[in-house]
Amino acid sequence: MLIEWSAAYETGHAMIDLDHRGIVAIINRLEPLIDSEDSAEIDRILCDLTDYVLVHFGHEEAIMQRIHYPRYDEHMLSHCRFFASLTQFIYGFETGQSGLSQEIQEFLATWLVDHESSEDKEFVDYLLRYHPDVAGA
Ligand SMILES: [Fe+2]
Ligand SMILES: [Fe+2]
Repeated sequence: MLIEWSAAYETGHAMIDLDHRGIVAIINRLEPLIDSEDSAEIDRILCDLTDYVLVHFGHEEAIMQRIHYPRYDEHMLSHCRFFASLTQFIYGFETGQSGLSQEIQEFLATWLVDHESSEDKEFVDYLLRYHPDVAGA
C-alpha cells in the first residue's frame, strides 16, 4: 500500500515530522517492487530505511532522555521491537529465504503510521506541553 501523507500523521514537531515524511517516502519506494526480482534495488531501499529509521529513533530518544520522558522505556521498547522485525526481515531477504511481499511492505507501512500517530504524537504532546523550551531548541 502506498502511504499518502495526512495531517493526522503530523505530531507538531518540525524535525520529527520531517523525519516521518522521509520515512514514508522511503517506504513508498518499496511499493512498486513488491514481488519483483530487482533484489539490488530492494536491498538499497531497505538499507536506506534502516539508516534513516536508526537516526530518527536516535533523534526522538535523545529528546526523551533530555526531558526525562516518563514513558521513555515503553517507547524505546517499541522502537527496538520494530527494529528487530526489520532486521529479521532483511536477514530473510538477504539469505534468499523471503522476498519483498505485500505482507512485509504493509507491516512496515502500518507499523510506522500507527506509531507516528499514536506513541510519537503522545510524546510530542507531552514535550510541547511541559518542555516547550526543549521542543523549540
Ligand atoms: Fe517517530
Ligand atoms: Fe517513536
